[in-house]
Amino acid sequence: MANTNLAKAKEAKNDEFYTQYADIQKEINAYLDYNPDVFRDKTILLPCDDPEWSNFTKFFAQNFENFGLKKLISTSYAVESKKIKSWQPTLFETESPYYDADKSRTNGKIFVLERDVTGDNRIDINDLEWQYLKGDGDFRSKEVTKLRDEADIIITNPPFSLFREFVAWLMDSGKQFIIIGNMNAVSYKEVFPLIKNNCIWFGVSNGAKEYIKPEGGFMKMGNTCWYSNIDHGRRHQPLKLMTMAENLKHSKHKEIRGQKEYIHYENYDAIEVPYTDAIPSDYDGVMGVPISFIEKYCPEQFEIIGITDRGNKYGIKTKEFTLEETPLYCDLNRRGAIKVDGQLKSTFARLLIRKKQ
Ligand SMILES: C[S@@+](CC[C@H](N)C(=O)[O-])C[C@H]1O[C@@H](n2cnc3c(N)ncnc32)[C@H](O)[C@@H]1O
Repeated sequence: MANTNLAKAKEAKNDEFYTQYADIQKEINAYLDYNPDVFRDKTILLPCDDPEWSNFTKFFAQNFENFGLKKLISTSYAVESKKIKSWQPTLFETESPYYDADKSRTNGKIFVLERDVTGDNRIDINDLEWQYLKGDGDFRSKEVTKLRDEADIIITNPPFSLFREFVAWLMDSGKQFIIIGNMNAVSYKEVFPLIKNNCIWFGVSNGAKEYIKPEGGFMKMGNTCWYSNIDHGRRHQPLKLMTMAENLKHSKHKEIRGQKEYIHYENYDAIEVPYTDAIPSDYDGVMGVPISFIEKYCPEQFEIIGITDRGNKYGIKTKEFTLEETPLYCDLNRRGAIKVDGQLKSTFARLLIRKKQ
C-alpha cells in the first residue's frame, strides 16, 4: 500500500513540468503558416493547464485577436489532487475578490477570455476572467468534459502518466487537438492504430526540449513530441532519399555501405533499415524503420502498415521462435529478429512501412 502511494506521488511529480513559450509559439506558427485561419472563430480549450503558470494560456490570450479566436478556456487541476506538498496560492489568487481559502486547495480553476472586460477596446490577457471549478479540474470529470464538448480545438501538454486516457478522451470528442507527449507513445496499443490510420500525426517541432520545473530551473526531455490531427505543411514534404543501390554504395552508415543487400528479418517479411536516411527510395516491399521516422513521415510518400512490438497485432509476422530453436526465443519474438554473423539478434521496435503505390 505504502509502495503504491509512493509510486502515485512519484508519477504526479513526474507530471509536473511546464512548456516554454518559445516551444508553443514555434509549433503553433506551423499550423498558422499552413492555414492562417486555422483558429479563426474557434473556441480553444486548454485543459490540464495552470493558467497562473502556463505559457499556453499566456500565448493564446496574447494572440486572441491576432488569431481571430471566439473564446479561450483554460482549466487547472487542484493542488490537493496533484499531491504537491509545498505549495502556496499565488498573490493573483489571494488578492482576487473570488479567493476562497477552502476551495483554493481542493478545486480546479477555470479561466475564460471572450470579451473586453477592461474597456480598452481590445481583448487580451488582461481580460481573462476566472473562478473555481465545482470539482478538481480532472480532465475526465463531467465538468471538464462538458468544456471539451463546447470547444472546437483542445491544446495542451497533458500529464504523461495519463497519456493513453487523455488520447482516448480526445478521440471520444471527435475534436481537433494539438498536444505534447512522449515519442514512445507511438507504440502504445491505444495510439499506434490511430497513427497507422492517419487519424493522429506528429507535429512539427519534435525532439529534445527543456521544460520549466515548478521549483525553478529547467529539465531536459529528449523524447517529447507534438501529436495532432490538424494539418501542417511539414507532413506533406516527402523525404529526399537515395535508391537501394546508391545506399549500398554511398551510405554514411557502416551497416549499409559496402554490403551486398539490406538484411531481411527472420520473422517478418521485411528488410531492416536501421536509419531513416537509409530508407531506399525504390524498394517496393515492407521495410522496418526506426520509430523516429514518424517525424519525417509524409503520407503521400509512404504508408505505415505495422510495428514490430511486443503483443502488437499489427506485427504481420512470418515466424514465432520456439525454445527448441533458441533459448533467446522470448527476446526474438518481441521484435524483428535479424542474423548478424550467423547469430540471431533482436532489433529495436520498428515501424513497418511501404512505399505508397
Ligand atoms: C506536463 S504538465 C503541463 C502543464 C501545462 N499544460 C504546460 O504545458 O505548461 C501536466 C499538468 O496536468 C496536471 N494533471 C495531472 N493529472 C491531471 C488530471 N487527471 N486532470 C487534469 N490535469 C491533470 C498536472 O498537475 C500538471 O500540471
